[in-house]
Amino acid sequence: MTPGAARDELIRLLQMAYSGERAAAYAYLGHARSLSRPKHAADREMLRSVLVDEIRHRRCVRRLLRQLDADGDPRRERKMRRIGLTIGAFCRVGGWYAPMYGAGKLERGNVAEYEVAARLAHLAGLDDMCDTLLGLAEVEWDHEQLFRSCAESHWLWKVSPHWSDTGPRADIRSTFAEFMLTGAPEPKLRWTPLR
Ligand SMILES: [Fe+2]
Ligand SMILES: [Fe+2]
Repeated sequence: MTPGAARDELIRLLQMAYSGERAAAYAYLGHARSLSRPKHAADREMLRSVLVDEIRHRRCVRRLLRQLDADGDPRRERKMRRIGLTIGAFCRVGGWYAPMYGAGKLERGNVAEYEVAARLAHLAGLDDMCDTLLGLAEVEWDHEQLFRSCAESHWLWKVSPHWSDTGPRADIRSTFAEFMLTGAPEPKLRWTPLR
């Protein structure tokens, strides 16, 4: 991949991530509000803390987009806002398990998304962005663990299909270091060009 193509892919991926963070923020806001019973106080607290992270992520991704002379994609922004609000509304009727399960699965995807973005930044010659992107992947890893442990505590987990394991948190940095040396993305991180 040429540096120019990697940069274009990175912009498209960051636009997706930027709007994805918006959807996540709306979804977690609805999710937190749906857990109104006193026994869910700890879950509400966890969701609020994740929500704050997603808002920070969105600001961070926007800064990166601006460094690339780009911005969010208005169509995707509208679409992901709708999706986030819909998920947030679903949480009111979806019970306790389904929103926790769905969030864990989505967060798993977010880890990979930022890992791929870090590799694209490197291929584009934008190494100053890599640490930020890996940091975002690490926080998404933390989110995945939180939601996974919630989902695992429910009996339905045993009969639900499980998403792929994220592996140890340290792998985010170590596999990236390996990629820097060999230039070959590991299979789970191969991405399909967006065009
Ligand atoms: Fe995020
Ligand atoms: Fe997240």
